[in-house]
Amino acid sequence: MGPPDPILGVTEAFKRDTNPKKMNLGVGAYRDDNGKPFILPSVKLAEEEIQKKNMDKEYSPISGSPEFCKATINLALGEDNEWTKNGLNATVQGISGTGSLRIGTSFLSAFFPGNKDLYMPTPTWGNHVPLAKHAGLGVKQYRYYDPKTCGFDFHGALQDIAKIPERSMILLHACAHNPTGVDPKPEQWAEMSKVIKEKKLFPFFDMAYQGFASGDIDKDATPVRMFLKDGHQIALSQSYAKNMGLYGERAGAFSLICSSKEEAAATMSQLKIIIRPMYSNPPVTGARIATEILTTPSIRSQWLKDVKGMADRIISMRQLLRSNLAKEGSSRDWAHITDQIGMFCFTGMAPAQVEKLTKDFSVYLTKDGRISVAGITSKNVEYLAHAMHQVTK
Ligand SMILES: Cc1ncc(COP(=O)(O)O)c(C=O)c1O
Repeated sequence: MGPPDPILGVTEAFKRDTNPKKMNLGVGAYRDDNGKPFILPSVKLAEEEIQKKNMDKEYSPISGSPEFCKATINLALGEDNEWTKNGLNATVQGISGTGSLRIGTSFLSAFFPGNKDLYMPTPTWGNHVPLAKHAGLGVKQYRYYDPKTCGFDFHGALQDIAKIPERSMILLHACAHNPTGVDPKPEQWAEMSKVIKEKKLFPFFDMAYQGFASGDIDKDATPVRMFLKDGHQIALSQSYAKNMGLYGERAGAFSLICSSKEEAAATMSQLKIIIRPMYSNPPVTGARIATEILTTPSIRSQWLKDVKGMADRIISMRQLLRSNLAKEGSSRDWAHITDQIGMFCFTGMAPAQVEKLTKDFSVYLTKDGRISVAGITSKNVEYLAHAMHQVTK
């Protein structure tokens, strides 16, 4: 018998709890202010349009829908960007973010010419490690989160990156770092880009939350665009799970930005050879929804409002949680709750405090003290602040 998944196992325990005040802050899925799953108005509009088109259910190409791939890479790099305009991207549709990371790590495992080690931030999303190992890569780490400040360990990260052997790979969370909610500032990204270039490291960006951090899709893509301008070739994984709420539709993409059109074409051919025996070709529905949203100007502008609405609600829940902790009389410094960004907050609570929070207050979260801010509402934030104060005072 294998152990349960550390994140999905939290939901199982939550379901068994009969306390009416119980809260599930474990899983990373957006909830509205009533704690209910949210279907974006733009997604509903896109689905209505697709319905009218009466489309067939034929297989997709191995690399997925070409329209979807084009719209997706342009979302990351910006409309009219020089890389896609010059045909330098090899982009394939993946099974959401996870599947796209899996294609990318498989490709690098087969073709990366340097060290087959992928350096990841400490900590990183729990699934990064097994998926990279599964693809045959070595997994190493660099410092990222500073438990003392509950913020970014900029100097530690730079020191560690400077020690990585040349021609290795480095994994970077483009925005809304999971699990910590801690992102480098633009000037810190600039410095990291410089060191990564000097060390001839190959950056692999995981962008699972574009728009979800700040509410602005362009702002959140800043590091990806900055690295390209700085002359890096990059790998990039994208997901529409969070920013379009298409969790179960599994829409995402993997791209490599190449140095020539010929290299991009060769890369595409090898990506297809990797995908074919894994799952043959990707599902059509989620990709159709995303394409409809991105390519229909009126639906796209609704989507931009939807993304901003979700990001803003999360930001306001952070503020409310912090102010309610102060009202409870907590003398701890909770500034990191509002300094951090995106779906998750790394609260700094110790494992024993987390255990007490679950046992005494039926608040469910991962053992590392991470809470999904998306699970907080204006109705339960006071209860949460009270519970957090009780276990941390
Ligand atoms: C950092 C990061 N990468 C990738 C993913 C992949 O998500 P999905 O496969 O649902 O798109 C997630 C989801 O939680 C994530 O947090």
